[in-house]
Amino acid sequence: MPAELEGIVKGLHHITLVTSNQEVNRRFYTEVLGLRRVKYTVNQDDVLHRHLFYADEKETTGSAITFFEWPDLPKGQIGLGSPHHLAYSVSNIDAIPKWKAWLRSQGVSVAGPCIRDGRISLYLRDSDGVNIEITHPDSETISSDYLKETDAALTTVTEITQDMRLVKFNHATPISYDSHQTAMFFDKLLALKNPSTKPNPDQPETAIAAIGNDDQPDFLRYIVSDEAARGFVGRGNFHHIAMAVEGDAEQKKIERRLNDFGIHNSGIIDRFWFHSLYFNDPDGNLLEIATKGPGYTRDEPLEKLGTNLILPPWEESERSKIERALKETDCNNHQTWPPKFPKVVSPPESIPYQQRRRLPEM
Ligand SMILES: [Fe+2]
Ligand SMILES: [Fe+2]
Repeated sequence: MPAELEGIVKGLHHITLVTSNQEVNRRFYTEVLGLRRVKYTVNQDDVLHRHLFYADEKETTGSAITFFEWPDLPKGQIGLGSPHHLAYSVSNIDAIPKWKAWLRSQGVSVAGPCIRDGRISLYLRDSDGVNIEITHPDSETISSDYLKETDAALTTVTEITQDMRLVKFNHATPISYDSHQTAMFFDKLLALKNPSTKPNPDQPETAIAAIGNDDQPDFLRYIVSDEAARGFVGRGNFHHIAMAVEGDAEQKKIERRLNDFGIHNSGIIDRFWFHSLYFNDPDGNLLEIATKGPGYTRDEPLEKLGTNLILPPWEESERSKIERALKETDCNNHQTWPPKFPKVVSPPESIPYQQRRRLPEM
């Protein structure tokens, strides 16, 4: 592990996925999950399409889920290079049964609560099929009767109360072919540790490899299988996972490290609200290192975040062309609220295998 990089990756920064409809997406993440839209802008690499950012009330680093709106992209496929799910934390354990009641009242398919690996979790999917976990990192105080009792007691929850608020991401789960290779990659390039690799309770022939730092030892929880199928990016799937560093000096160190090892990367890109550096892990998952600042309040006051279409200054001259293109997208994109939410896959943390070709028994 390179000593000069130790401790500089601070956990998750944001996670970016693909949605087919910005309005349904906005209603789900704000009205059903209680997040706040903190930036309404365009994809800087494809400026005629939207980029939507949601985060907690204080736009905390590590709480932002963002979406590219690409209605014409085919449905994505989970697998190698296309991560499986993301997990938000709640700070109060009683929020778990409340979330279950609330989500059901909104017509969202929910599985759980499941108790495993020291955590208690619910699973749900948004209307594009994104797999989401809501988790509390302490299942030790829960008796087996607790879940039954609270389930029965909480038949109606009519709003998202303060104690239910989603806080930061707990983890993201990509898929890996080889846990050793994954562990070496994060150790050598980002000075992140692999404190455990354990059987996956949902699919014991696969494993869960934890990757993280001292504060958050498993902010990445890779599902590992040498039979995992290859995935691809599309509607309802991940585009990339961004990890946080404090500032430019730390980001530069990582860029140097990637270059020393000959890892292809984007170079540092100015995204106006933060600076970004992109590269792939060994399985083809797109990763990003993003700086904490300057932050979403650089061009909007905190109370107004996400209310108007904001462009980075270098795109302002294109505003009317961009607004026309977005209007056209909306004219051809007819989705209504409430959507039909897809069912949670069972078991929720299982992955698709590639087609096995078995030799006949001799
Ligand atoms: Fe998970
Ligand atoms: Fe990003």
